[in-house]
Amino acid sequence: MSEEHTYSVTMEEQEYIYPSYEFVSQANMTDPKIREKMSLDNFPYYYKEFADMLEWDEYWHTMLDTSDAPCWRWFVGGRLNASYNCIDRHLKEHKNKTAIHFVPELEEEDIVHMTYQTLYMRVNEVAAVLRDELGLKKGDRVTLHLPMVPELPITMLACARLGIIHSQVFGGFSGMAAGERAWDSESEVLITMDAYYRSGKLLDHFAKAEEACKKSEEMGQTIKTVCIWQRYKGKNSSPTPMKEGRDIIMNDLVAKHKREIVEPVSMPAEDILFLMYTSGTTGRPKGIQHSTGGYLSYVTAMSHIIQDIKPTDVYWCMADIGWITGHSFIVYGPLSLGASTVIYEGVPTYPDAGRCWRVAEELDVNIYHTSPTAIRMLRKAGYDEPDKYNYKFKHMTTVGEPIEPEVWRWYYEKVGKKKAAIVDTYWQTENGGFLCSTIPGLEPMKPGSAGKTVPGLHAVVYDGEGNEIPPGAGKAGNICMVNPWPGSMQTIWKDRDRYVRTYYERYNKDPKSTDWRDWPYLTGDAAVLAADGYFRILGRIDDLINVAGHRLGTKEVESAALAVEEVAEAAVVPAKDEIKGSIPDLYVSLKPGYEPSEELEKKINNMIREVVGPIATPKGVWICADMPKTRSGKIMRRVLGSISNNEDVGDVTTLANPEIVQDIKEMVDKKLGR
Ligand code: WT7
Repeated sequence: MSEEHTYSVTMEEQEYIYPSYEFVSQANMTDPKIREKMSLDNFPYYYKEFADMLEWDEYWHTMLDTSDAPCWRWFVGGRLNASYNCIDRHLKEHKNKTAIHFVPELEEEDIVHMTYQTLYMRVNEVAAVLRDELGLKKGDRVTLHLPMVPELPITMLACARLGIIHSQVFGGFSGMAAGERAWDSESEVLITMDAYYRSGKLLDHFAKAEEACKKSEEMGQTIKTVCIWQRYKGKNSSPTPMKEGRDIIMNDLVAKHKREIVEPVSMPAEDILFLMYTSGTTGRPKGIQHSTGGYLSYVTAMSHIIQDIKPTDVYWCMADIGWITGHSFIVYGPLSLGASTVIYEGVPTYPDAGRCWRVAEELDVNIYHTSPTAIRMLRKAGYDEPDKYNYKFKHMTTVGEPIEPEVWRWYYEKVGKKKAAIVDTYWQTENGGFLCSTIPGLEPMKPGSAGKTVPGLHAVVYDGEGNEIPPGAGKAGNICMVNPWPGSMQTIWKDRDRYVRTYYERYNKDPKSTDWRDWPYLTGDAAVLAADGYFRILGRIDDLINVAGHRLGTKEVESAALAVEEVAEAAVVPAKDEIKGSIPDLYVSLKPGYEPSEELEKKINNMIREVVGPIATPKGVWICADMPKTRSGKIMRRVLGSISNNEDVGDVTTLANPEIVQDIKEMVDKKLGR
């Protein structure tokens, strides 16, 4: 959607589906007055309830300090420790309860059940290593590049115990991507793993560390130490040679600190808990900075109110901890509430489409959380598969991208067996926790709609001119949050200007204002607001592509393509995909003297996989004689997008080179046999 226009939305609103009595009768949030209590008139005081879900070493004195708007400070004066809140405080009652169920991808390997007591011991030992072997202290940054193994939350919580800022890079990302993020965060330590399983293959993950160090060094930041966790303790599973003086086996270091206890460092609420890099509209990834007190209280409250988690629940969120969903809803939220959280190493359909339902049956999982991409994949691979297994979900979540009503219905009927309440949670890396969702025990579901804003948040939809689009108008616009909330990012790491520009400049009423009312938060998504207050999220208004529920910047992919010597220009557009929602489709033109060839297409494809990671693999690499351009020389991505999706390219007569459009379209149509 073009940023400057609103347009009519014709998709029919779906019928309500009400949660089952069974769910409602046990739900955490059943107060029918909750929205009234959390109306804007009472802002920000209602967030006290969120803060009170945590244990504070020192209670805060100021709920919200807006003096440095739009950098909001929450629970000022308070002190707490996130690792203490996720582990220590549960020991009295729940020490013998499973904190983490680790499910290895290979079914013949045993599931690991780690109690809160065991988690406590392991986190303390790793904290001792970070402090005494690596010399790390409060405020230092550490880059983690770990797969889905218990060592990942253990390392995160060990960092949190000492106030060390962790920056986990999604394990599927390339070494170069990890190196660039290590450089931006100025990390001297990289923590990685030798290998892990994906689709039945033991991948050499440590190989990426060398690339990461090289990239970081080139950019001006030396990684002095690389710590390597072993997938199999006592055994090195990576064929890549270690580098003397730089690389150390983490398990060996931990062995030296067996049963050592490290006191949690009492952190000011506003100190940084972690950085999470995400794509922006320029090539450089943004280090989204999350606080300790605000973030943790927000994810704890959301886990309680929206995820309906209780300490007795077995909760399985199938996201990767390398994304914000995993940070908030595999690690910090569920552990803060003392629940059992499931970590699954591998691919949902490995070795077959029944795997997820076997895991659910085996562990008696009762809350399940995944993305529309995974749901589409599971539906395609095994439509009736859930029928064969005897598990029972009370609650299910979908997150990350819009879900088609028919996919939603399969999730509800087959996976949830018409018993589970479903929440469609809409939010972003920047938000810490949810923006929109129904309250599962109080409000009906509507397939394809995320629901109202979550209690505490208030949203508005603006058109291009900044006029409010009223509910039920049937027009889409830019969805913005009216008020700040505790889980919102503090800023972009080392780049306050970019933070203000990206999220607040557009609808800000006065750049000098310290009144939160003057600073609506721009999500960057287009949405329609129905008469009942439910939001339907349509997608990004900027140059971001949502691939399988993960954000990818077109600029990142384009700059990777431009790194190929022959390439002169590159443009990436989203191509619709049946399973992943969208996939990047790449158009390039070559420098003079070079000819298109299949070999060159492969070379460009490989470069993108190497620089960004396999997630960015383009659907097609289209080598064009020229790019369609405006008279001022701007590449017309909209036109290319229409070609990719076999849609009408519209009026192109005003372009500088309209004839090229037909040539490109013919090339694409021919190759795709349309
Ligand atoms: C973008 C954020 C934190 C969630 C995981 C992705 C899209 C997210 C929904 C939803 C429709 C959604 C938006 C958003 N999105 N949830 N329920 N329905 N779209 O986090 O990588 O920061 O991406 O994902 O476009 O801006 P992310």
